[in-house]
Amino acid sequence: MNSIYKSVPVRSSEITPKELFYSRRDFIKASGLIAGSAALAACAPSATEAPQKAGPDSGPIKTDELGDPANTYEEITNYNNYYEFSTNKEAVAPLSKDFQTSPWTVEVGGLVNKPQTFGVEDLIKKFTQEERIYRLRCVEAWSMVIPWNGFTLASLLKAVEPTSKAKYVHFVTLLDKKRMPGQGAQGYPWPYEEGLRLDEAMNDLAILATGVYGEPMLPANGAPIRLVVPWKYGFKSIKGIVKIELTEERPNTMWNTIATNEYGFYANVNPSVDHPRWSQASERRIGEFSRRATLPFNGYTEQVASLYEGMDLSLHF
Ligand code: MTE
Repeated sequence: MNSIYKSVPVRSSEITPKELFYSRRDFIKASGLIAGSAALAACAPSATEAPQKAGPDSGPIKTDELGDPANTYEEITNYNNYYEFSTNKEAVAPLSKDFQTSPWTVEVGGLVNKPQTFGVEDLIKKFTQEERIYRLRCVEAWSMVIPWNGFTLASLLKAVEPTSKAKYVHFVTLLDKKRMPGQGAQGYPWPYEEGLRLDEAMNDLAILATGVYGEPMLPANGAPIRLVVPWKYGFKSIKGIVKIELTEERPNTMWNTIATNEYGFYANVNPSVDHPRWSQASERRIGEFSRRATLPFNGYTEQVASLYEGMDLSLHF
C-alpha cells in the first residue's frame, strides 16, 4: 500500500544465533514449568525478567514506521499466548516445539463462489509475500514489535470471491487434543475461534502470517499460518488456522463467548476504554522497563478509523 509496508529481504545475520536460541530453551526446561491460571485476564503482565536483546552481530535493528525497534527473535518466539499448549507464556515454546505443521491445509468456504482447500505452501506461492513490521498489543497490557512475513488476507478472500451475502469472516484453529494438549483444559469452548467484519478483513493491514524475521514461523507463534490484525488486541490474531468461513451472521469468538463483557467482538485497541479489571491506558513493551502510553487503534488510526465511522467506540472495546 505505501512505503512503510515495503518488502524487505532478510539477511541470515539478522536471525538470533541458534546457540542463543537453544540455550534460552534449555534454561526454560531446566527451570521447570508452572501451570498458569484459567483466565486470559490472569496472564496480566508477568514479573518474569525479559529475555536479553540479541547481540550486535545480529544485524541492523528493524523498526516499525514509528521508529520503535522490533523485539528480538528470542523474545518473539519465547513469550507467547497459545492456550492450546499452555497458559504459561514461557512454557508455550518448549511444549509446542515438536508440533507438526506440515502437511497443513486451510479450508476456505462458506458464502463464496469459489470454495477451496489450500495447502499452506500453495498459499505462500500464490500470494505476494511481504514483510510487515507491526506492533502487537495484547489485551493484558504488554506489547511487542514483530517483523512478520505473510500476505494480505484480502488477496486470499478476493481469490475465493465472497458472495453479496457474506458479511463476516470466521476463523477456526485446529482441534486436536492429542497434538494440542491445552485443549484438554476444561472451561474453554475449543476450538479457538475468531471473527472479523468482511470490510475489516479486506483492510490492507490484515495479514495471514507464515514467518517471523524471514524464518518459517515456529509453532509458538501459530505456525504454519496465523492471522495478524495489528489495530486490535492480540487475542483477535488467531493462530494455527485450519478453516476460514464467510458468513452472513456474526460468528462466535472464543474469548467473547467466555467473558462477553471483558473481550469484545471488535476489540480495537482503545486506551480510553479500560478492561473491567485493569487500565488499558498504558502498556509494557517486552524488553523495556518503563510503561508507555497505548495508542488508539494501536497507532493505526489513519488506516482503520473509517471502518468505525458512526460507531460508539466506548462500547466496542
Ligand atoms: N490463537 C490461538 N489459537 N490460541 C491462543 O491462545 N492467543 C492470542 C493470539 N492468538 C491465542 C491465539 C493472544 S491472547 C495473543 S496476545 C496473541 O495470539 C499472541 O501472539 P504471539 O504469541 O505470537 O505474540
